[in-house]
Amino acid sequence: MANSIKKIGVLTSGGDAPGMNAAIRSVVRTCAFHQIECVGIYRGYEGMIDGDFKALDARSVNHIINKGGTFLKSARSDRFRTKEGRKEAYDQLLKHAVDALVLIGGDGTFTGGMVFNEEYNFPVVGIPGTIDNDIVGTNFTLGYDTALNTVVEAIDKIRDTASSHKRLFFVEVMGRDVGHIALNAGVGSGAEEILVPEEDLGLDRLLESLEKSKHTGKSSSIVVVAEGDKTGKNVFELRDYVEENLEGYDVRVSVLGHMQRGGSPSCFDRVLASRMGVKAVETLIEGKHNVMVGTINNKLELYPIDKAVKGHSKIDEELLRVSDIMST
Ligand code: F6P
Repeated sequence: MANSIKKIGVLTSGGDAPGMNAAIRSVVRTCAFHQIECVGIYRGYEGMIDGDFKALDARSVNHIINKGGTFLKSARSDRFRTKEGRKEAYDQLLKHAVDALVLIGGDGTFTGGMVFNEEYNFPVVGIPGTIDNDIVGTNFTLGYDTALNTVVEAIDKIRDTASSHKRLFFVEVMGRDVGHIALNAGVGSGAEEILVPEEDLGLDRLLESLEKSKHTGKSSSIVVVAEGDKTGKNVFELRDYVEENLEGYDVRVSVLGHMQRGGSPSCFDRVLASRMGVKAVETLIEGKHNVMVGTINNKLELYPIDKAVKGHSKIDEELLRVSDIMST
């Protein structure tokens, strides 16, 4: 491989996701394999502006494949949104002789990378890391599989107590703009109803469905609600609404919150992270940049980073239908 890249910087930015450490490890070791220097940039773009850099070699990333979070830390940087902030970041990269960047994160991370590339023609390659799975150009983002398993495990436990007391639970899961976690974990945990941000499934429909559940002899009901669901009501308002409009329901609410982002990554996420890290570094070595490494039908593909940012992932209509049928 012809190679003009001598030093690669790697950072994690935005919401952390399980599998980010495994991706960093893969980037660092692939650099070592190709005898390229690697530098870790701490706290995402914030650390880039501050020059918070540390040289990493193959041994710097021992025993992190199984760790949640990101040892490079993460941040959402307001300074990097400004021209001045990006200039400072660029100066730091020059000072540290960094030739290219691997950016691990979601939509905001890639937007930053895209703007930076436009301004300074600086080579960047993205690795999608977010539990939300809301990036186009890849079937899976790092952390999504782990988060699904975490949510399903939590809902299984909620089901135990719900059915012991014959209760209805509204369970809020993450997903500001997309309902992939809600829909998949909902189907996986046998939820009676699932509310997502992509489509307003209607409050009447919810009442009808709960009414039906009661008459068909269910001993508990679980409604999984994505943070940004389209009915416009949060889980507490939904509880009040059901209590006002339906008799005979003892309703509780559980907000799963940030525990969904933590924990040891699943094997799926570790393998995906390892593959994507290799691909990201080798893409830069081959002289390609401004792309994201995605996985489509289990094959790694490169996708233009600007399209990854601007596109919208779609809700799986077939799965919505499966969910309807399963809640019969
Ligand atoms: O983008 C991932 C995500 O987990 C969203 O689902 C959630 O809305 C958001 O991050 C919460 O982020 P924070 O509390 O870190 O701002």
